[in-house]
Amino acid sequence: MSEDVQGQAAEESESSESSEATIAVHWREEGYYPPPPKFIGQANASDPAILDRFAEANFPECFREYAELLHWDEYWHTTLDTSNPPFWKWFTGGKLNASYNCVDRHLARDRNKAALIWVPEPEDAGDTVITYQELYRRVNEFAAVLQDLGVQAGDRVTLHMPMVPELPVTMLACARLGVVHSQVFAGFSGGACGHRIADSDSKILITMDAYYRSGDLLDHKVKADEAVEAARKEGTEVEKVLVWRRFPGQYSAKTPMVEGRDVFVDELLADHKGAVVEPVSMPAEAPLFLMYTSGTTGRPKGCQHSTGGYLSYVTGTSKFYQDIHPEDTYWCMADIGWITGHSYIVYGPLSLGTTSVIYEGTPNYPDAGRPWRIAERLGVNIFHTSPTAIRMLRKVGPDEPAKYNYHFKHMTTVGEPIEPEVYRWYYSTVGKGEAVIVDTWWQTETGGFIGTGLPALFAMKPGSCGPAALGIYLAILDENGDPIPKGSGKAGNIVARNPWPGIFQTIWGQPERFVSTYFAKYNKDPDSTDWHDWPYFAGDGAVQAEDGYFRILGRVDDVINVAGHRLGTKELESSALAVQEVAEAAAVPVIDDVRGRAVEMYISLKPGYSDSSDVEAKVKAAIETDIGKIARPKNIWIVPDMPKTRSGKIMRRVIAATSNFADVGDITTLANPEVVEQIRHQVQNAKHARGEVPRELTEAEEAEIKSFGSE
Ligand code: WTA
Repeated sequence: MSEDVQGQAAEESESSESSEATIAVHWREEGYYPPPPKFIGQANASDPAILDRFAEANFPECFREYAELLHWDEYWHTTLDTSNPPFWKWFTGGKLNASYNCVDRHLARDRNKAALIWVPEPEDAGDTVITYQELYRRVNEFAAVLQDLGVQAGDRVTLHMPMVPELPVTMLACARLGVVHSQVFAGFSGGACGHRIADSDSKILITMDAYYRSGDLLDHKVKADEAVEAARKEGTEVEKVLVWRRFPGQYSAKTPMVEGRDVFVDELLADHKGAVVEPVSMPAEAPLFLMYTSGTTGRPKGCQHSTGGYLSYVTGTSKFYQDIHPEDTYWCMADIGWITGHSYIVYGPLSLGTTSVIYEGTPNYPDAGRPWRIAERLGVNIFHTSPTAIRMLRKVGPDEPAKYNYHFKHMTTVGEPIEPEVYRWYYSTVGKGEAVIVDTWWQTETGGFIGTGLPALFAMKPGSCGPAALGIYLAILDENGDPIPKGSGKAGNIVARNPWPGIFQTIWGQPERFVSTYFAKYNKDPDSTDWHDWPYFAGDGAVQAEDGYFRILGRVDDVINVAGHRLGTKELESSALAVQEVAEAAAVPVIDDVRGRAVEMYISLKPGYSDSSDVEAKVKAAIETDIGKIARPKNIWIVPDMPKTRSGKIMRRVIAATSNFADVGDITTLANPEVVEQIRHQVQNAKHARGEVPRELTEAEEAEIKSFGSE
């Protein structure tokens, strides 16, 4: 064996030893919080018989119960078709329309009930209340506009819209025609949007001129021009840009409209007043939308979700886990630009015919009492948000909730692990001890919650998402695919052993990547049509306590979860590498007490270039342009060299440990171990000077940092 190969082998065994799969996790067992009796009395799922109905012996037929919550134009003949694994098909033979299910079917009983209540950010601007009848009118009229432009079932259309009611209207109008929408988070840059346009081959971009964020009316249309340009570079020509106006009739952006390409939606709508467009009856497995998310390799993945399976799943989970009743006022503070907003602001709640609140702006604008004032004024009784928002509101306004007279029966947390301490503030102060908290573990890919407890049947435990969701059989496997028993204190890779209706169908245009990323790891027989042979690899580390509750530890791949949003290290790094001076770049997570994780970027320069703050500014600007402000690194360190293996691979775990003041572990096998100490001095001294020394890490955090990016 050559020295190089030996070195590499030693390093690999070293890094797999420190990987999350084998690290014992000791954390304080948290106490249980039982659901309040008042909640149990009214809950949609309070009879434990439901657990038997969804037991493995009744799979897959158990999911009929979700599908039967919908209106089907034609009933399905096969509940789960496994003939082309792992491209599962649910409810095959069935036909339905998602827009019909979220709008039309509620008219008979609830025509004049609020479907959406939109709260604009400026506090003196009144709410917009959109009844189901009004939603029906708006969706039909906009569907008529799309039809007029020649868009047809199966075509993709990219949306780059802020938190305004025109966004669900646009989504539902697409769904009405069987058109596949791909909404890009408005905070993403024009470049990021353009890339998604090209990947999905959308010929139409739908946007808005401007929206309010933290008190400013932002020019959003400028991003459309950048997006069209970016898509063109990748070979996709956008034919039309439809521009909704934040104030109809009045243009709020500075960017000029492009003759022949850009059109104001309010002007087009004028020709379609009162139009009615028949909902197109779509096969259950027809795609409903794409949602892009970051993965380990460069390009974001377009997760394709189905019509029948997805809508069944989000409807069922909204009913049983969000405990939505038609008379509830439900507010999910997430952005519709993420999967949470698709599933649990738009499709799930509207399919159940409830009232869903949409808020345009930032939670702490103009002050940290804003969410609680909204809740009080609208009588919100179900509240849904992320640990990041909870941490932030706790930091800036710990006593605000007590000042307002609202009463939640139910609260959700989603997107990141929540620290028990933060959980307790959420429970006692925000929930006033009256509400259940449902910690929901899931992903863009999973469509809906897959790890979480039924709130009336399972006591809450801070920091744990709870057991597997109904009809999902979760397990924790080690690197060899052997199950790690519950209560062992050992962490491993969490998998869903079975398919479920909400799982995404494929990665748009990259079916091989779908198989290799999510299934190849634990599949032993690629020809098997038995679903038991295809565990879904979620890419999260987790540990299961004796009571069966799961605790999610975070990603096992090179993804950094910032404020509940996944950023791929490769995306961040390739954007930094586009700066002329930059030779090498490595992105790592740092523990951040508000956002969970923040990005730090290490950079080495090409020979002949010298360290200057200019480079730092250029890298920040490049990341903002390519991805968006959300991805902006907290720090950029220009270092003389990166710690590398003898085969030349950058050791991200060593860098991550440096940024987090954690132990760098064994570095004797590195090609340049001396650089580790040099970087440590540079970075940690600077952090001391800036007052950025982190608190002591928990064991789980330490485990995550020390295994970051290791294969
Ligand atoms: C993380 C968001 C701990 C996890 C719905 C997952 C969580 C990634 C939780 C998906 C939770 C989500 N507890 N971690 N309750 N929920 N995560 O695709 O790492 O934006 O893989 O979907 O967020 O992020 P995504």
